[in-house]
Amino acid sequence: MERAKIKIFPNETNELAEEVANIIISEINMNNAANRPTVLGLATGNTPLDVYRELIRQYREGKVDFSRVISFNLDEYFELPPDHENSYNRFMFDNLFSHINIKRENIHIPQGLTSLKDIKEYCDSYEASIKNAGGIDIQLLGIGRDGHIGFNEPLSPEDSRTRLVELDKVTLNDAVREFGDVKLVPTRAITMGVQTIMDSKRVILIATGDHKAKIIRQAVEMPPNPEVVASYLQKHTNATFYLDQASASELTRISKPWIFGPVDWSNPRLQSRAVCYLSETTKKSIAELEVGDFVVNMMEGLIKEVPLATLKTKVLNEMVGKITSNDRLPVKKSVLILAPHTEDDVVAMGGTIQKLIANLNHLACVYMTPGTGAVLDYEAQKFAMAKLIYSQHVGDKSLIQKDQDLVTAITQHINKKKASRFGMPDTVELTTIKAVVREAEAAACCNYFGVPQCEFMNGATVEKVRMVIEKHKPNVIFACGDLTDPNSAHRLCLRVILSAYRSLPATNLPELWLYRVDSNEFHPAESDMLVPLSATEMEAKIIGTVYHQSQNYKLQLGTKQLWQKVEERSQHLSNTLKQYGVTGYTSYESFKKHTPIIPGTTAV
Ligand code: PGA
Repeated sequence: MERAKIKIFPNETNELAEEVANIIISEINMNNAANRPTVLGLATGNTPLDVYRELIRQYREGKVDFSRVISFNLDEYFELPPDHENSYNRFMFDNLFSHINIKRENIHIPQGLTSLKDIKEYCDSYEASIKNAGGIDIQLLGIGRDGHIGFNEPLSPEDSRTRLVELDKVTLNDAVREFGDVKLVPTRAITMGVQTIMDSKRVILIATGDHKAKIIRQAVEMPPNPEVVASYLQKHTNATFYLDQASASELTRISKPWIFGPVDWSNPRLQSRAVCYLSETTKKSIAELEVGDFVVNMMEGLIKEVPLATLKTKVLNEMVGKITSNDRLPVKKSVLILAPHTEDDVVAMGGTIQKLIANLNHLACVYMTPGTGAVLDYEAQKFAMAKLIYSQHVGDKSLIQKDQDLVTAITQHINKKKASRFGMPDTVELTTIKAVVREAEAAACCNYFGVPQCEFMNGATVEKVRMVIEKHKPNVIFACGDLTDPNSAHRLCLRVILSAYRSLPATNLPELWLYRVDSNEFHPAESDMLVPLSATEMEAKIIGTVYHQSQNYKLQLGTKQLWQKVEERSQHLSNTLKQYGVTGYTSYESFKKHTPIIPGTTAV
């Protein structure tokens, strides 16, 4: 089934980064001992960050000497100055080169400011430099959600070399994360070609996070094809895909292990997953499933383990048993909700919050990061202007002057930014107003739901989370369990929360329930609690979402507004449950209970 070599590592550990860094360090040490240079092909983006941190750590401990390393980076945005905050030149110095003893003259990164008329010659000379250095010993790669390696977008020729390319829609949308607006993202890049990468002696492709799971399945399981450029690596004699469990989650051997060969059908989670999968693929309710459905889908072993009628009743009852309305939710308890961003709580559990309030629980919502990167400039400008207009209304002269200065500074900066080609970093004033926008929205939304306490952590650390827990003494904690990019705010917050949670005394440990925002909602088979929403609760949830006005815009091409996404995700869960034959509600929210980690395993 898998056509490429893969290695899977546990989520929320540093094992993957350590193994890759150790491979690179061994290669360097071996070559240093033989008085030979080591030629590394390096990548940018969030994916290699943990490997770079590990290389720096080991360098500081004196375990590796980079003085004979020659590096070639994969790509750079065309026309972006090398000192721009989002340039890959800057990225490499900030995240690796400035922290190790690599020689400046040994570093090669495509230069985005190369003129169009010189580009062909420049790209050819980049290829020639790689050849002159003796070829790349180890090429590190990430993978785009469109399957690109480097900036070799879908349909890139297999025999391509370093060249100027146009970026596709998926890549442009993903780069909004750095540039803040799709209009500011460079549309072209210089990239090594597919053949340049294939010529490397060893290739290590890393993918982490469930947002990469779909493309990893295609790259690894489909025959090499131009739609998914990373699939060409299957033809390389020494290429390995290093995956965390999240990015490997859609591989057939993980998602449908029974297709791979005999499985242990006594595992109850596997039984439910298999029955749900069968209901979804055959489009029959669970009650309607027949022996033949199991046979043709290679699950005959399951109905040998558990008789069909018993199995169907068991899975249906289990699903119904997860439906948790007010009568089974906590009553008069202390509930702490930890949200990475200010809108995450309402998006994932706006209905459950209403039920918890109705059950007379004491709720505190704590927002972990300011999330200023996701506020558009004009939204911040509007808030600053409102502040000034209020001062003018009340006639406070000293405030009027200060607010006028703030509006002027912000407006001037925004206009300068608009006139710039690829954007520029926000000033302190602008960032502060953006944080104020989000805090005001969250506070108003909490007030709307009747949540009495709302706090802003302004950057999450294990210590801060521990202090919040000690202060609120919660019986129950709700936190975001997204498994997207490990360097995203959501997953970094999860890491911090789990570390803080593990350090709590084992007596009176609060229950920890996870919700998801950016990843798909917990699938019913994976979830431990499905909270149904009445039509009134769903409507209130949508209104709560709209309180987060700064998030209800279209930052990326073709995306929906936040409230529309909220409506869709709730309905999606409901449709899945209807498919199984579990009816009753049009909207649900889904949670998974965190079970403390048993050494050697991961609980999320
Ligand atoms: P990412 O990008 O590491 O930021 O996800 C990977 C890539 O596009 O190659």
